[in-house]
Amino acid sequence: MPTILITGANKGLGLGFATRFAGEGWKVLTSCRNPAKATALQALAEKHKGKIRIDALDVLDHKAIEAYGRALQDEAIDVLLNNAGIIGKEPQDIGQTDYEDWDKIVKTNVFGTTKMCETFVGHVAKSERKLIVNLTSGTSSITRKTVGRMPGTKGEYHLYSPSKTMLNMVSRYLAWEYKPMGITVVVLGPGWVQTDMGGPEALFTIDQSMDRCVPLIKGFGLKDTGKFILFDGSEPPW
Ligand SMILES: NC(=O)c1ccc[n+]([C@@H]2O[C@H](COP(=O)([O-])OP(=O)(O)OC[C@H]3O[C@@H](n4cnc5c(N)ncnc54)[C@H](OP(=O)(O)O)[C@@H]3O)[C@@H](O)[C@H]2O)c1
Repeated sequence: MPTILITGANKGLGLGFATRFAGEGWKVLTSCRNPAKATALQALAEKHKGKIRIDALDVLDHKAIEAYGRALQDEAIDVLLNNAGIIGKEPQDIGQTDYEDWDKIVKTNVFGTTKMCETFVGHVAKSERKLIVNLTSGTSSITRKTVGRMPGTKGEYHLYSPSKTMLNMVSRYLAWEYKPMGITVVVLGPGWVQTDMGGPEALFTIDQSMDRCVPLIKGFGLKDTGKFILFDGSEPPW
């Protein structure tokens, strides 16, 4: 059975992915900042005994990522799913930029994800599926940024969305760099989903997002490398 590694798997979409892939019999390597408090993930691991590994990992800590890579050195990882991310504090209105928070958002969403890719590329290269999926956001599209504040949101996201735009570009670089190794790199937007980040008014439940995202992930291959794909399979303009 294939193996998937998921960061930030204690709640939200990360837990949703872990639940789905474990349910389909995959070996699921999960990490989160505080495994002792990850009760839902622990319960999932208990249900799928021997199939789910839980490690502590803060993606802001690059030395810890390297140590995690060494701890998993014998694993062939079919899918590296970089899910851990933050949206940052609100409001994010221009004129009130919190640069310290922005720094943390970029370090988490871009540097953390990139460091995970650099560390685990060898693990992915020795797998069968050879896939890296970096979770992005539909709001990262520069072309679609044609209005100010998004309807229904508490404020503008001018700190979060550009961090995902940057992640998109880095992922394109990774895609071409890793293509000769047979590795596919995709950025995937999961939709606006009811999680702590998405809030209760979001359009989709975690299950609805999983219904769309999991089959997409299972179908991605080299033909898709370098693409920006949304939960419904569409490719938004960059
Ligand atoms: N929900 C949406 O509508 C939506 C839309 C587009 C894209 N996304 C993306 O989907 C991904 C998951 O989001 P979500 O909605 O599930 O958010 P969430 O419920 O807030 O969960 C975020 C996860 O990331 C983890 N995380 C944050 N900083 C971390 C760090 N430094 N090291 C390790 N883990 C860290 C969190 O851990 P803690 O529990 O320790 O904080 C949590 O497990 C994110 O990349 C997000 O940008 C979400």
